Order: sequence, then C-alpha cells, then structure tokens
Amino acid sequence: MASGSVMVHPAARVRGRVRPPGDKSISHRYALVAALADGRSAIHGYSTGADCASTLRCLRGLGVEIRERPAAEGPGLDVEIAGRGLRGLLAPAATLDAGNSGSTIRMLSGILAAHPFRTSITGDSSLRRRPMRRIIVPLQRMGARIVSDDGRPPLTIEGTLQLAPIEFEPEVPSAQVKSAVLLAGLHAGGVTSVREVLPTRDHTERALRVFGADVAQTGPTVSLRGGQRLTARELVVPGDISSAAFWMVAAAALPDSEVVLEHVGLNPTRIGIVDVLRRMGAGIDVAAESIAGGDNGEPSGTIIVRHATLRETRIEPHDVPGVIDELPVLAALATHGGALSVSGAQELRVKESDRISALADGLRRMGADIEERPDGFDVRARARLRGGEVDAQNDHRLAMAFAVAALGGSGPTTIHDAGAAAVSYPEFFSVLESLRA
Ligand code: S3P
Repeated sequence: MASGSVMVHPAARVRGRVRPPGDKSISHRYALVAALADGRSAIHGYSTGADCASTLRCLRGLGVEIRERPAAEGPGLDVEIAGRGLRGLLAPAATLDAGNSGSTIRMLSGILAAHPFRTSITGDSSLRRRPMRRIIVPLQRMGARIVSDDGRPPLTIEGTLQLAPIEFEPEVPSAQVKSAVLLAGLHAGGVTSVREVLPTRDHTERALRVFGADVAQTGPTVSLRGGQRLTARELVVPGDISSAAFWMVAAAALPDSEVVLEHVGLNPTRIGIVDVLRRMGAGIDVAAESIAGGDNGEPSGTIIVRHATLRETRIEPHDVPGVIDELPVLAALATHGGALSVSGAQELRVKESDRISALADGLRRMGADIEERPDGFDVRARARLRGGEVDAQNDHRLAMAFAVAALGGSGPTTIHDAGAAAVSYPEFFSVLESLRA
C-alpha cells in the first residue's frame, strides 16, 4: 500500500490547532463490538486510516452490513453497523484481507474462534511476517482450530460453538492478545480471564462495557462471563493521541512553537507520551473535557504543547506499553535536543517493520547519533541533523517520525514509502504544511 516519496523541508517553528483523526485502536474495537451487538450502531469520527478500513472490509466479508460517509461533524467517517448478535457472523465467500493491520487480524481471530465455520485471513507482506502464535496458543486452548504459516499469516481458523473459558497470562504485554482472548471469551461457556504483568491499553474492556457487557478488573486481571448480549450504541471516537504525538513532539522540539490538540483521547493507558514529554522538559497543559469518559467511556480533552529546552530521559521496560507506538517519534524528538535511552522495547522489532533497526538506519542517514540495542536504542542530539534520504520501510509510524525529525535538519529530507502514513493518518503531510505556515 505504501508508495510515493515526500520531501520534507526544515521548519523554524510549528504553530496552530489540530483536531487529530479518530483513534485507530478505538475505531477497530467499536466496529468489531458493534458487529457482535444486537441492533444498528452509529460510530461518529471513525478513523479514515487504511487499517480501520481493513476492519470494515473484513466484517463485510463476514456478512455485516455497513454504511459509511464523511462525518457530519469533525474529522473521519460516520459509520453505521448492523450488528449480527453473538455468533451471528456468516461464513465468508473468500479469504479475508487484513491489509497492514495487526489489530484487525488478531482481534478478529478471537471472534472467529467462536464461529463454527472456516475462515482464512491474510494481509500484506509486512503483516505476513508478524508473529501470531501469541493469539494462536490461547485460542487453540479454548477449542478453536488454527492453521498458520509457521506462526505467521495467513491464518485459517475453524471456530466452535463450544468454546471453553480460560485463565490466560500473555507472555508479552499486548492489548491485541488480551483483546483476542476477551472477544473469544465473550462467546465461551464460563468466565475467561487475562492477567497482565504490565497493563496495556484497555479500549476493548471499555468498549464491551459501553455496549452493555459486565467486564471486571481485579488488580492485574480482567475477566468476563461468556454469553452476555451486547446492545447497539451511538458513539463518538475521540482523537488519536498516537497521531497527535507527532505534533506534540514537533511543538516540543522547535523553538517558538505551540500546538493545540483538540478532542484527543486521554485514556490513562495511552498518555505515556505526556509523561515522557514532561520528563524531557516540554511545556504541556492537559485540560480534560471528560475525565471519567463521556458516553463512550473514554476520557478526552485538549492538549497544548510548547517548546522548551529538552533534557536527557530514560524509558524503562515498565514505561514501554504506555508509549509503544510513540517510541519512533520520541526518538525523533531526541535528535532535536536532549537524549533518550529506551530499554525493554524488543516488541518494536515485530511491528509493521523492525522498528529498532529501521528507525536507527533512517535517523543515522539524516545525521543522527543513534545506537541500536536488541531491546531499544540510545539517541543523543549532538549536532543538527543534515537531512538526507530515508526509507520508511512501508511503516506508517516511521514515515511520520522521520518527517518530524526532518523539521530540524539543515537541509531537506526525502522520505521513501511516505505514503505508508495513510495506514493511520492520511492527512498527515497536509496538516504538517498547515502547521509550518
Ligand atoms: C494496539 C496494541 C499495540 C499497538 C498497536 C495497536 C491495539 O500492539 O502497538 O499499534 O489497538 O490493541 P500490541 O498489542 O502488539 O502491543
């Protein structure tokens, strides 16, 4: 899907207001859960990213009737989903295509484990390299039959109406794995629980509650009883803090900058970036509009970020799940000023690309001082970047992180595969131009 090169010129400053696109993680979950609910749901501000389109495409392949149109208010789409009720999906006529989306293939696999037919799901060349044993193992324990290509997609899933509940402790902190097990558990004959050593984003738990399910959190363990019916809802998706992160970092990095981000999701499991930016010295104000979460159970508000002198900061293993998708852009920040040392982030190696090696390679080509380690990296702002020519390796977050690093260059940077940004933020490069103006 990625194509095209973009040349990014240095910027003296960024200033302005942005309403970021609808949160990608929440969009996926509202669509998946709405498909399992009884009745027609309306989702406002659904992400326009290609990943969230992949979820809708797969659901349509499973017989779900979906209508979409540009949002009447704010960014994104208004999506109407005719829920098919628990176990109501239909056997697909063809292989499903999850595109670049790990969230789609992993979470949908949990749902398919409970449907008594055979489904094959595949994806693009990046997705076909990503590890799936982390969901195959628990879903097989629950009773599904799953065939993979040595632990990678394509997956062929044969579900069952007799899914058994399990108590599961994932080996790696992963919201996608937790969600796959919980969505399967919603269909199982008893209580399914997932115990997390480090907490990960809890959007699935919140979405299930908003659609009427009882989901319990006791210490590190989340559990739910199978067979609970869900009721259709009308919901608004808050803005994606992982997309807002690019503008937060640009504002923190460039002198005389200030960016106001409106209607951003402030879920406590996602705001690690705010904490890290504060630790690095950036000026940040956060004004919550709804702390407990509005009708959709997700808190949101306004974030204002201003430039400040940046300090050296460490990101430790326990910080990683809260900033997992923001690590590339935080590395970009440390090319502008201060220094950043990240450890315990080996999961980055199995994202849309090997994000440690691709990040180090790209930033180094622009003149950065970055050292790669198996589980992280060290970046230090020794001198101004030169700019240069980099390859985003078909990875949306790298394309956008390189663009933010490039703003501080002494010369322009050409980013190959920059079209990958459309996976989560199709408007990224046009917003960048408006903020530098
Ligand atoms: C996501 C969870 C994270 C994250 C990904 C989205 C989600 O992945 O990196 O971009 O929506 O649940 P893992 O579950 O693999 O950590």
